[in-house]
Amino acid sequence: MRIAVLNGPNLNLLGQREPEIYGRTTLAEIEQMVRQAAATLKVEIDWFQSNHEGALVEAVQQLEGRADGAMINAAALTHSSLALRDALLAVRVPFVELHLSNIFAREPERRQSVIADLALGMVTGFGPQSYLLALQGLVSRLRGA
Ligand code: DQA
Repeated sequence: MRIAVLNGPNLNLLGQREPEIYGRTTLAEIEQMVRQAAATLKVEIDWFQSNHEGALVEAVQQLEGRADGAMINAAALTHSSLALRDALLAVRVPFVELHLSNIFAREPERRQSVIADLALGMVTGFGPQSYLLALQGLVSRLRGA
């Protein structure tokens, strides 16, 4: 089983960026945690981060036939990107939406997601653990549990 993890704008700055909201763990450390958990679950991980909307759209387009599922932290694009939504509609890969912070406990403009209704489910508010919970949930759904 192959799972793609897609990370959106500014997530490369985790660790230094608004630590009171996002914590001090870097994206590289989260990647390591996810790879470790994936090895235990015997799944392969493709890891991707970009600050560019078009690059994320292309990454979604490339999931077709290459990944069994995806975990997506689209960051700010979550709240606005119809291009990302359209790519997910076109490719129809099963995915879990995830966020470090609880987007529903934040500013009104962050309380909506333009991709949530396309997702198998959402994990939001558990810091770096959101990635591990999303992985667990996605893999069990894909394995039919
Ligand atoms: C985020 C929440 C978004 O609102 C924000 O733009 C991010 C990170 C999160 O993981 O909590 O960049 O997706």
